[in-house]
Amino acid sequence: MSITTSTLWRIHFSRRWPMELDLAHQGHWTSHERDLLADSLRQFQLGEGSDGCNLLRFARTFAAQVADPDLPEAIAGLIAEEQRHSRWLGEVLRHQHEPLLQKHWVDGVFRLARRAMGFGLEIAILVSAEIIAVPYYAAVRRATTLPALQDICDRILEDEAFHLQFQAANLSLVVRNRFGLRHMLHRVLQAAICAVVWNQHGRVLAAGGYTYTTFWHECDHLLAEVQQKSQRAARSRCASTFAA
Ligand SMILES: [Fe+2]
Ligand SMILES: [Fe+2]
Repeated sequence: MSITTSTLWRIHFSRRWPMELDLAHQGHWTSHERDLLADSLRQFQLGEGSDGCNLLRFARTFAAQVADPDLPEAIAGLIAEEQRHSRWLGEVLRHQHEPLLQKHWVDGVFRLARRAMGFGLEIAILVSAEIIAVPYYAAVRRATTLPALQDICDRILEDEAFHLQFQAANLSLVVRNRFGLRHMLHRVLQAAICAVVWNQHGRVLAAGGYTYTTFWHECDHLLAEVQQKSQRAARSRCASTFAA
């Protein structure tokens, strides 16, 4: 049995799974925090909780095409971590007596767009979602006084740093197999997503010290890093294939 990058990521996700958060010390929001954060966190709680059925289906088809049998299980590990983020945010919202969302038009549009695409384009949108999570949870971390929510943000930021590396590996797979989005097109797509996110969550991001320009710039910089990593990974795969 050969060890692939997906094998290593499958093992990574299974090792991190037992690392739960202790959310016993919740505290209470001030009225300012509630007004600032509740609606925004509800949307992220809904978005993080996607069941990932389509992504897994695409991943299984793609894995069969490129002979990468561990990819679907690695993707399942990613989906489980995202769902755990959703569960943690849900616990905070419930503790603050805030209702959870069942649906939202932004989440609906993203799900519809991803369902209509193949694995390559779905990964491109997911990369941008992972990227936007970085300034967003950094802003929430700075804007909240709740220890539990601060712990959640710290942990999500740690998880998302790994997710970006995982997605760089996935991007390298789709680019290498010509299913990927061109870099410039991905930047344009991400700029459009940033505009929607700022429209919906700009108050939270501004409370965390971002302007629209610094928010967009950080996201664009993170995308450039992911694209460089994916190119390096694709080149090293090509080199090892050539050497073999
Ligand atoms: Fe997440
Ligand atoms: Fe993520």
